[in-house]
Amino acid sequence: MARDLVLSFETSCDETSVAVIENGNRILSNIVATQIKSHQRFGGVVPEVASRHHIEQITSCIGDALRGANVTYDELTSVAVTYGPGLVGALLIGVTAAKAVAWAHHLPLVPVNHLAGHIYAARLVEPIEFPAMALVVSGGHTELVYMPEENQFQIIGETRDDAAGEAYDKIGRVLGINYPAGKPVDELAHKGQDTFHFPRAMDADDNFDFSFSGLKSAFINTVHHADQIGEKLSHEDLAASFQQAVVDVLADKTKRALKEFPVKQLILAGGVAANQGLRDRLTKEIAGFSDTKLELVPLSLCGDNAAMIGAAGEMLYRHGVRGDATLNADPGLEF
Ligand code: KG4
Ligand code: ZN
Repeated sequence: MARDLVLSFETSCDETSVAVIENGNRILSNIVATQIKSHQRFGGVVPEVASRHHIEQITSCIGDALRGANVTYDELTSVAVTYGPGLVGALLIGVTAAKAVAWAHHLPLVPVNHLAGHIYAARLVEPIEFPAMALVVSGGHTELVYMPEENQFQIIGETRDDAAGEAYDKIGRVLGINYPAGKPVDELAHKGQDTFHFPRAMDADDNFDFSFSGLKSAFINTVHHADQIGEKLSHEDLAASFQQAVVDVLADKTKRALKEFPVKQLILAGGVAANQGLRDRLTKEIAGFSDTKLELVPLSLCGDNAAMIGAAGEMLYRHGVRGDATLNADPGLEF
């Protein structure tokens, strides 16, 4: 069988990433140039700074990805690129670079939805079995996606306000933790207890939607009130209580979704899928669904990376999805 080789691009936020994927499921290279340090002093991602870093990094990332995979332009089958959702200026750099490579080397261009990329990271470990469900939790998204078949995505639940990762980053700031705060808060949480019993918004509601802004406000108010009266609260217990509330809601809604939409596979994807508390909880819960297998995207592929875009890109290519020179970034892209 001829080798299918995708050169893929991801620049939707603060990672400049280029990868080479073989036959849709094997990573030959996955270069990720992170800009986190440049954004940390601002407490979050600054779009203009992100775009500038992408411009500086993209060319060397392409060279590193091809060299790392030991592949030449002539051997490539297609070029895949994230065109949304994300920061428009950041997305534009990847889209422009991908269009240039595709045009110069007469290769088909495949536009990829960033969230489809997060989900398809799972196929870099094992084939996805359909029907499948994905819980996509990241800095910008919290979504339950039902996939009856390959290349079919139905959002059955989403956040009404903050994304789960965004809530982690915001409460982390109150604890004096640098952006992105998800991992340090997760680590703190493992040393504490749920003593604060923060609200679990919408947990009992008969739908699959989420809301994290009330939890975030309850957390921030608790810390500010303690500051005002000079009381010292345990950061470990605060983190554990916050995490328990997030994990409870994510797990409860996912269970409810699995009851209504029985699937062969549940995929946990996105930056927050690296959360140990969430991984442990879903592993326990899924035991109650004998026909459903849990696919936890490996930690190294939870955050933004181009390998996942190549994995989704190869699938979309087979389904005839193509872009051309008019392809543009679409910051609010939906499925
Ligand atoms: O998917 P991602 O890399 O970028 C977006 O598309 O948003 O996700 C980044 C988010 C950040 O909010 C970060 O704090 C969060 O993922 N995150 C975590 C953990 N590791 C990263 N949140 C909770 N627990 C973690 N271990
Ligand atoms: Zn992402």
